[in-house]
Amino acid sequence: LKGSTGAIVGLTLAGNAGAQDGGTVRIGSDIPYRPFEYQTATGELVGFDVDIAEAIFQGELNRQYEFVQTSFDTIIPSLNNGNFRVIMSAMTITEERAQQVDFSDPYFTAYQTVLVLRDGGINNLQDLRGETVAVQKGTTGEQAARQLQQRFDGNLTIDSYDQIPDAFAALGNNQAAAVINDNTVNAEFAQQNDRAILLQGEGAAEEQGEDAPPYLTLTTEEYGIAFRRDDDQFRQQVNDALATIQENSTYDEIYNEYFEA
Ligand code: ARG
Repeated sequence: LKGSTGAIVGLTLAGNAGAQDGGTVRIGSDIPYRPFEYQTATGELVGFDVDIAEAIFQGELNRQYEFVQTSFDTIIPSLNNGNFRVIMSAMTITEERAQQVDFSDPYFTAYQTVLVLRDGGINNLQDLRGETVAVQKGTTGEQAARQLQQRFDGNLTIDSYDQIPDAFAALGNNQAAAVINDNTVNAEFAQQNDRAILLQGEGAAEEQGEDAPPYLTLTTEEYGIAFRRDDDQFRQQVNDALATIQENSTYDEIYNEYFEA
């Protein structure tokens, strides 16, 4: 699938033939981004975003939906060009993006984190001075890396990759000393790869007075579903559906499936 631009169908559900109201909701997403959107060994598309999409579009709005693979770096212009109706891609709500799209209410809190090799000699943020970090192109991880680069007076090389597995591979090959990326995605990789570990230490979350996760954080962020700016009515429907699944047990059940050990 990597690099493919085809629609990942197969998630549209039977028993939904009566769903009218505009047909299938196309969802732009950069896959794989485990545990939010990724394929199993048998090719089934799964993940937190996929289950939330299912609960909102199928469960609440009685609409069919399909995920459409899209490069994250161009995902906003692609939405605005009409290639799909919404973006669900573990996308952080930022001011810059909110000038080009409208976001749903937030549905997930995330932090930028630093993934390193256990035996790679990086024990704190300062150890990254003069090193290379790997990020996914167009992400808030890339932005966090740029801020670190400024903090180091330019003494940081940033290698931006099209997809996050390429950044993880760069870490594994010693082409990068760290991957700067969303906490749960880094944590999932570390859980499956004994050589990798999240850099420890106090960071942004504590400074913002939050209950911080047990590793260093560079930012606190929130994910939203993105819409074209002329799509207010649909955005409102999705916000209402999101509120409903947060009030009943649906959201919590999905959350626990992916994030409770
Ligand atoms: N949360 C980060 C951002 O919005 C990374 C999202 C990457 N998502 C993906 N599906 N590859 O920039």
